[in-house]
Amino acid sequence: MGTLSITQLKSGMVLSADLVAPNGRFILPKGACLTSRNIMSLKIWGVAEVAVSDRSDLPCEEDDFLYSSSVMEEARSIVLRIFGGIPPGNRAMEEVYRVAIREAARSLTENEARPPVFFTQEFTPPPGAPLPKLAMEELVGAEVRFVSFPDVYFRISEALQSPKSSITHVAELISKDTALSATLLKLANSAIYGVPAKVDSIQRAAALIGGKALSILALGVSAVKSFNSIPSEWVNMESFWRHSVAVAVLGQIISSRKNSRIIEKVFVGGILHDIGRLVMLRHVPSVMARAIAAAAERKVPLVEIERELFGFDHGELGGNILERWGFPRELSDLVLLHHAPAGETHSFPAAALSVADTLAAALRQGSSGSPYPPAISDEVWNMTDLSPGAIDSVVRQARRQISEIYSLFKGGDDDGKTAAHS
Ligand SMILES: [Fe+2]
Ligand SMILES: [Fe+2]
Repeated sequence: MGTLSITQLKSGMVLSADLVAPNGRFILPKGACLTSRNIMSLKIWGVAEVAVSDRSDLPCEEDDFLYSSSVMEEARSIVLRIFGGIPPGNRAMEEVYRVAIREAARSLTENEARPPVFFTQEFTPPPGAPLPKLAMEELVGAEVRFVSFPDVYFRISEALQSPKSSITHVAELISKDTALSATLLKLANSAIYGVPAKVDSIQRAAALIGGKALSILALGVSAVKSFNSIPSEWVNMESFWRHSVAVAVLGQIISSRKNSRIIEKVFVGGILHDIGRLVMLRHVPSVMARAIAAAAERKVPLVEIERELFGFDHGELGGNILERWGFPRELSDLVLLHHAPAGETHSFPAAALSVADTLAAALRQGSSGSPYPPAISDEVWNMTDLSPGAIDSVVRQARRQISEIYSLFKGGDDDGKTAAHS
C-alpha cells in the first residue's frame, strides 16, 4: 500500500516497517495492526507519515469493545489489587494499567488458568522474636556452599573469560553435555530467535548467535538447573520460575528494539534476576516473613523493606552471588542493578529488566513474593527509549513466548491450562 500521511490512516491498517517517532523513540513494530487509539497517539508523537501494507483481515483489538462491562469491571478490580493504586501523571504506568486490564479481561473471558500462588503455606512473622542481623557476605557464603554446579559450567565460564577461546571450542564443550545441549537447541529454535530453518546442532547454534551469546545462555541454563534442585519450604517454585521467565522474555523483547546484541544477557539476567529473594527466603525466613507483612501493610514493594531491614536488597545479594559463582561481570551487575537502574550507572539493560519486572506482575505471570510490584518511574521508562504506546505490542509479543520458554526450561508440556488460580 505504501507510505500514507497520518490523516489517511485508518484503524485496521498494518505497519509494513518498524515505526519510530521523529525524536528516535520506538513506537510500534512492523506487523502491528493500527487501532484508533494508536493513530491518536501517533499524532501526539509528531509522526507525519507511516508505511503500511494492506488492511488486516482480522479486526484490531479495541479493548473497550471486546469484552462485556462486567468482565471489564472484574478485570479492573484485579489490576487495582495487583498495584494498589496508580501514581498520578505517570504515562507509562497509565498504559501498563490499561494493557493489564485488557489482558485480565482476555484471560477471564478465555477462562485461562493462572500460575499457582507464590507462598505454599501461611507465611507469618514469629511474634516478638528478635531479628537476626546478617551481613550480605554471610548470605552469599551460605548460598555458594549450598549450590553445586556441573563441571561443564566451570569450563564454559573459563572459556568466556579467555580471549583465546574460539566458537568451535565453546561448541565442543557444550556438546559434551547432552541435557544442556538439548535445552540450548530448543532455545535457539524458539520464538526468541525466530529462525525459519531448524537449528539442529550446537555448532550451528554457535555460528548463528555467536559463541559468547551461547556461552551466556549455557551458564544461565546450568544455574537454573542447579538452583532448581534445592527445594524451598515456603515457596512454589513454579510461580517463581514463571515470573523469572516472564521477566526474561519481556526484557529480551524490550532490549531487542534498541540493541539486539544484548538480548542473551538480558534474557539470562531476567531468568536469574530474583535469585537473591529466594536466598533470603531460604536462609532467613523469619526476617522475610516480617518484611512481607510490612510491605503488605504499607502497600510498598518488598524491595524497599529489604533495604530497611538488611541494608541491601535481593538484587544486590543476587548480583554478589552470581559474581562469586564466576558469572561475567556484565551479568552479575545487571542482576545487582535491576531495582536501581537509574543511579550513577544508568544501565539500559537493567532498565529493560526493571520495566519487564513490572509488566510481568501486570500480566500475572507468577511471583517472587512481593505483595506490590514496583511502579515504573519516568526516569527508568525514559532509559528504554520506548513510547508508552509500545507497551501493548511488547505484551502481545511476550504473551505468545512466555509459555513456550517456560515449558522449555521445565522440560514439560506447559500449555498454561494446568496451574491453579493465583
Ligand atoms: Fe527483583
Ligand atoms: Fe522480579
